[in-house]
Amino acid sequence: MESRIRIRNMWKTRGDNARKIKVEVPRFDIPPASFTAIVGSNGSGKSTLLDILGLILSADHADEFLLHTDRPIHLARLTGKEKIPLRRNYISYVLQTGGLLEFLSIRQNIRFAARLRNKSPEKINQVTEQLGIADILDKRPGKVSGGQRQKAAIARALVQEAPIILADEPTSALDTESAKELMTTFRRLIDETGSSLIMVTHDHDLARESADIIYRFRTEKVEERMLSSILLPDSSLSSKNA
Ligand SMILES: Nc1ncnc2c1ncn2[C@@H]1O[C@H](COP(=O)(O)OP(=O)(O)OP(=O)(O)O)[C@@H](O)[C@H]1O
Ligand SMILES: [Mg+2]
Repeated sequence: MESRIRIRNMWKTRGDNARKIKVEVPRFDIPPASFTAIVGSNGSGKSTLLDILGLILSADHADEFLLHTDRPIHLARLTGKEKIPLRRNYISYVLQTGGLLEFLSIRQNIRFAARLRNKSPEKINQVTEQLGIADILDKRPGKVSGGQRQKAAIARALVQEAPIILADEPTSALDTESAKELMTTFRRLIDETGSSLIMVTHDHDLARESADIIYRFRTEKVEERMLSSILLPDSSLSSKNA
């Protein structure tokens, strides 16, 4: 089957004159109904890559950057305006910073996201129960714990059942048990909906236990003020190859 996302020879340079980093993606393939983990150290470009996949940032260059849903779409050629409907229809994104609207209750935050994609309120109950936050839905995001807020942000993304789900460090505020439960929830969703999930994490063990495919950023200093960070498949970490 076609890759849902296919990237060949893509890069983006970030930073300023004091310190630059070139984030490079030589090859990246995301099959349908798959769980991919991206690991790498702080500042290696994980969130930058997710922002590019989430159509929030543009790469400086890409030989190929394809989104394949019912047809292939060449993302590198699109304008910002053309990306808006694609973002709404195909992608849901759990930001590293959460991104919940503070003036809405958690339920309203989730419902708002579900409505954007015409998902039923039952979906909300199912997802929030799975994540163990059914009892805090009427609170504002600022009135719950960091872990609960993170789960609410995850629930908001999952109710959309988008073909591509991006999750930036979704377990950073979760205890070990909750992180494991979240991986089970992710897997169930992938099996039920055929979504392709891409998770950024620092946690190699979690990646190894949960993901089908693992990529890792290898970061090196190439000049005094210039780093290079290259995304490589990490077969040594993948459970399938262990
Ligand atoms: N808004 C920005 N403008 C310019 N440079 C940025 C911006 N955000 C991040 N960078 C730089 O780009 C590089 C990659 O950042 P990125 O946030 O992608 O790293 P990361 O792997 O997600 O790190 P972390 O594990 O800390 O979340 C860093 O060196 C950072 O300083
Ligand atoms: Mg990050």
